[in-house]
Amino acid sequence: MNLSKIVIAIDGYSACGKSTTAKEVAKILGYRYIDSGAMYRAVTLYFLDHHVALTNPKEIHRALQQINISFKINAKGITETFLNGLSVEEEIRQMRVSEQVSPVSAIKEVREAMVAQQRKLGKERGIVMDGRDIGTVVFPQAELKLFMTADMMVRAFRRQREWLDQDRLVDLDDVVENIKKRDLIDTTRAESPLRQAEDAVVIDTTHITIDEQVDEVVRMAFSKIVSMRKTTR
Ligand code: CDP
Repeated sequence: MNLSKIVIAIDGYSACGKSTTAKEVAKILGYRYIDSGAMYRAVTLYFLDHHVALTNPKEIHRALQQINISFKINAKGITETFLNGLSVEEEIRQMRVSEQVSPVSAIKEVREAMVAQQRKLGKERGIVMDGRDIGTVVFPQAELKLFMTADMMVRAFRRQREWLDQDRLVDLDDVVENIKKRDLIDTTRAESPLRQAEDAVVIDTTHITIDEQVDEVVRMAFSKIVSMRKTTR
């Protein structure tokens, strides 16, 4: 095993800065970043565009066989999500997808298909993956597990701001409602609900900056790598 390559699992509530942190940490460590939420969003987009009924297991099974999700790094160094060969990076962030992604993610067969792909992507280690069940289900053996949280209104403001930066104006009440709904479905679903892994470190991002949270995670990752080297000497 290459000791300088660990698996970092970042789970937590909607819009609390998981992806931003995971991306930066991966860049600093030279690791691969995988946005598991983007995979569920891509499945949701496919289901919406192909009118897949969420109550029809046969349709779901058939649709999942038609779905191929991949990630590519674009010329700007940003990871883009591809669905069947086409970039869907922008589309999967739209409200129509955000509104349906949690019900789709609660379907057992959808989760099984995505978890299998996520485990494949993590085989080579040296990975930072963020989501809802990464430390509990996808990589229970991850060397570093983080559970991120933040005040509800702070999360909503940040998400609205993120969209404003992309010239998209979304009503704050709609953002709050969407985040609340997703958190409720994500934490109460039967299949791998969002919960803190016992060995996860909690990071509350309400009062800290992105740089501070990134520094904190990188520091923890280095200390993990160093302590692993020591114990195997
Ligand atoms: O909007 P945000 O970045 O917080 O969410 P996301 O990471 O893009 O994930 C979108 C949705 O996908 C979540 O609300 C969950 O319903 C689902 N998801 C999941 O069930 N399991 C994961 N590992 C990742 C996301």
